[in-house]
Amino acid sequence: MAESMRGLHRSHRCTELGKKDIGTTVTVMGWVQKSRNKGSILFVDLRDRTGLLQIIFEEGEIDAEGFAKAEKLRSEFVIAVVGTVTARSGGENENLATGAIEIRAKEVRILSEAETPPFPIEEESKTKEDLRLKYRFLDLRRPDLQKNLIMRSHVATLTRQFLAEEGFLEIETPMLTKSTPEGARDYLVPSRVHPGTFYALPQSPQIFKQLLMVSGYDRYFQIVKCFRDEDLRADRQPEFTQIDMELSFVDIDDVIDVNERLLQRMFKETIGVEVQLPIQRMTYAEAMDRYGSDKPDTRFGFELKNVSEIVKNCGFSVFTGALEAGGSVRGININGQGSMPRKKIDALVEFAKGYGAKGLAYLAVNEDGTYKSSFSKFMTEDELAALVTAMGAQPNDLLLFAADKNTTVFAVLGALRVEIAKQLELLDANQYNFLWVTEFPLLEYSEEEDRYVAMHHPFTMPMDEDLQYLESEPGRVRAKAYDIVLNGTEVGGGSVRIFQSDVQETMFKVLGFTREEAYNRFGFLLNAFKYGVPPHAGLAYGLDRLIMLMAKEDSIRDVIAFPKVKDASCLMTEAPNVVDEKQLNELFIRLAESLTK
Ligand code: AMO
Ligand code: AMP
Repeated sequence: MAESMRGLHRSHRCTELGKKDIGTTVTVMGWVQKSRNKGSILFVDLRDRTGLLQIIFEEGEIDAEGFAKAEKLRSEFVIAVVGTVTARSGGENENLATGAIEIRAKEVRILSEAETPPFPIEEESKTKEDLRLKYRFLDLRRPDLQKNLIMRSHVATLTRQFLAEEGFLEIETPMLTKSTPEGARDYLVPSRVHPGTFYALPQSPQIFKQLLMVSGYDRYFQIVKCFRDEDLRADRQPEFTQIDMELSFVDIDDVIDVNERLLQRMFKETIGVEVQLPIQRMTYAEAMDRYGSDKPDTRFGFELKNVSEIVKNCGFSVFTGALEAGGSVRGININGQGSMPRKKIDALVEFAKGYGAKGLAYLAVNEDGTYKSSFSKFMTEDELAALVTAMGAQPNDLLLFAADKNTTVFAVLGALRVEIAKQLELLDANQYNFLWVTEFPLLEYSEEEDRYVAMHHPFTMPMDEDLQYLESEPGRVRAKAYDIVLNGTEVGGGSVRIFQSDVQETMFKVLGFTREEAYNRFGFLLNAFKYGVPPHAGLAYGLDRLIMLMAKEDSIRDVIAFPKVKDASCLMTEAPNVVDEKQLNELFIRLAESLTK
């Protein structure tokens, strides 16, 4: 039985009420969190997106029909209550925003009944995520998810306000478009009108925002969905949201300036965190050298040390072999962990192997200054002492070494230092360490494709002093590209763009595109550059990742209303799914036989 709410108007949300309202008559509406029947008196917790409010139904204060209705109330029923705000009779509940008051009901309507939900609607749910995602509409009633989505909305509103004040225009760009160049696989949409052709969903609005600069819009932004068909992880979704921006007549410092102030305002006004400006900057080379990562978490130490020089003539062939093959030997000092049990170290070795290490060499300095090590038998006392000194090791320190080609050494030690910090509980979620990483390599060599590929995207400007090497030594060219990193997560990235068609054409050439291929894919941009283009630069944040960190969640699924799971499906709608034969026919699409059997 569902009653109408005719004649009633919600006067307040639950937690908008407080002591100031005592004595007034109010109308509240929401979901029954729970109800307790004590005979002639009923206690009901009413819930809405703001929180809980206690309602009292007592015989005599409400008529018999109303009391009978109240007796039927079960969890998740939707009700409307008219009543008087009074001071809480059973003493204040300090854990509740509305703990000083209660509503004494005069009238109740059951707007909608509810079946027993498949899991309790409560904070810090113990229910498996798969079940919660299947019933996401119920999961979203939980206060922790509501808090996250409310925060997300605040951040979006603040961003719009701030950027509008700074002279940015919000302009939409198409979702049905041509392949864009961010380097992931495209999601394709078949065209009915042009059989055999496909739109691509944008991986980002990159080309369009650059065209908007050519068109004179000067400062653009958009809070926009992007689509990338790539392997999912805890911080990756196939569709995700960017705060995307582009500015004309600017260089790196201008972009960084406006973004630092945006971040400062965002963090202050949503979670009360003071971001100290200016944010630290570090070159890519330094980040790799010190942290083995282009997105270092700087909340803790365990910095990498290059000991190649120290061990180059030692007797340990694992070390010398790596050096002879052009690699390096680097180590991290895990202070105070010299007595880590062998089993735990073995687990770290296995972890390192997951990042491509052939092994991990360790040396623990005992309290008495002697060593316990996997390779001491291959080295002289002097060689070991030199190594220990170079690593700055004290008694009870644990040293871990990787010897390999540089990319592997960085990947292994970069991941290992974070893993160990996690295990030692050194990661303080209340600390927000921002870092700009700058001077990225323009290109990286792809063994798979046997050619250079753009590290950011092909429109990124080389650094002035490196431009001369673009054709002769592409690998050494640094880019005017920057990432904004927060606690080891890349939350945003951008670059100054190439605005000269000759540089852009050289760039395509270096990337292995023929002139024809380049025009085929990006001809409209190259043409646009012939008609007057301002110098421009931009940046995009991953909004989901930002909110994940602000909300101290481990997964971006917890800050997205309807997220997808690891295999890119939606457990609630069961998308993707098969479609009617008729739809396929209209699109001139026939499925491979292996799929229809
Ligand atoms: P980029 O590819 O670095 O740059 O993307 C910008 C930011 O978007 C976030 N991000 C993601 N978040 C969730 N799931 C994903 N699959 C995902 N992929 C990326 C990251 C990243 O830092 N057009 C350029 C920006 C520019 O140059 O202006 C771009 O898209 O936080
Ligand atoms: P092995 O000679 O293969 O028994 O290795 C001796 C020690 O060196 C073991 O502790 C291995 O885990 C370690 N080790 C092997 N390969 C590497 C490597 N590439 N980097 C660092 N340590 C390694």
